[in-house]
Amino acid sequence: MNIFITGVTGYIGSHTSVELLNSGYNIIGLDNFSNSKREVLDKIKEITGKDIKFYEGDMLDSNILDKIFTENNIDMVIDFAAFKAVGDSVQRPIDYYINNVSSVLTLLKTMKKYNVKNLIFSSSATVYGTPEYCPITEEFPIGNTTNPYGTSKLYVEGILKDLYTSDNSWNICIFRYFNPVGAHESGIIGEDPNGIPANLMPFITKVATGELPILSVFGNDYDTSDGTGIRDYIHIVDLAKAHINGIKKLASSNGGLFIYNLGTGKGYSVLEMVNAFQKVNNVKVNYKIVGRREGDIAECYADSSKANKELGWKTSKTLEDMCKDAYNYAIKNKDNFKNK
Ligand code: WQD
Repeated sequence: MNIFITGVTGYIGSHTSVELLNSGYNIIGLDNFSNSKREVLDKIKEITGKDIKFYEGDMLDSNILDKIFTENNIDMVIDFAAFKAVGDSVQRPIDYYINNVSSVLTLLKTMKKYNVKNLIFSSSATVYGTPEYCPITEEFPIGNTTNPYGTSKLYVEGILKDLYTSDNSWNICIFRYFNPVGAHESGIIGEDPNGIPANLMPFITKVATGELPILSVFGNDYDTSDGTGIRDYIHIVDLAKAHINGIKKLASSNGGLFIYNLGTGKGYSVLEMVNAFQKVNNVKVNYKIVGRREGDIAECYADSSKANKELGWKTSKTLEDMCKDAYNYAIKNKDNFKNK
């Protein structure tokens, strides 16, 4: 089966490619390297021994998409390509809506043109906004998003629902990721943010390796066990493997719109993450408590029982695995991991 993956050299795209190649799927990949590096292609080959048929370009360019769809017999598409930094999205909403929404419209138009209607779309738990309570199920209301990144994902979910309503032969799986962290156990690929990380785990890792001096904990006055924010951290390899379950689900369906939360069902606070990371890696992570971050919510963790039941998917990696693998990647790639 030939899978076209957009954002193939990104954090989730690269880890998913490793799992798919190891499971015998063929991959055609597209990336513009806006938040990744070409060398990731070699790293994927180093892990799997297999090549990806790669095209450099932007999903907004219908010419490159036409080239890909005419040169390859594509069975299914996995769309990862998007800007994903919450704070950054508040600063440049137009860029986020063009990149995260218009590009998907170009992709969908091309898929329709070549009669390819199997799509896995990477959405996010941010579409739930501030949840009334946790754990969050797929039936929770969505829409009160608090930043353009989350709103861009919400808009695309709405587009996909309208598309399916217009033509029930579309076969779509929407994955709402919670907080992906960690790295492949080899340490060859991992999360490699450019510049100062927006997210917690890469920030902790940079403090642990000495790249950054101290972690700022954004608030300890939330109504949680220790006052710091709680999130559902999921190992990137568990999350990557879910895409194989998603492919199988679509392959056994003649049309549908399926929505799944991808999380562990367990929430951890910021301080719990820091303590676990220190313990597992026997390393000190300096931190200080500062004020809350604009737009943050207190608590967010998933009920993933629908994915467990309908996809036969469940997580297997522990919090310790997440901390160990994240640090292992950072140590092995210290030069790359340097502040860029
Ligand atoms: C986690 C917790 C912070 C950094 C966002 C997106 C989500 C996904 C992951 C793309 C919070 C605290 C963080 C720091 C801190 N993105 N924190 N100091 O905001 O839950 O989710 O990123 O897929 O869609 O919404 O992730 O890692 O930024 O924050 O105290 O330097 O860590 O307050 O409680 P978030 P995060």
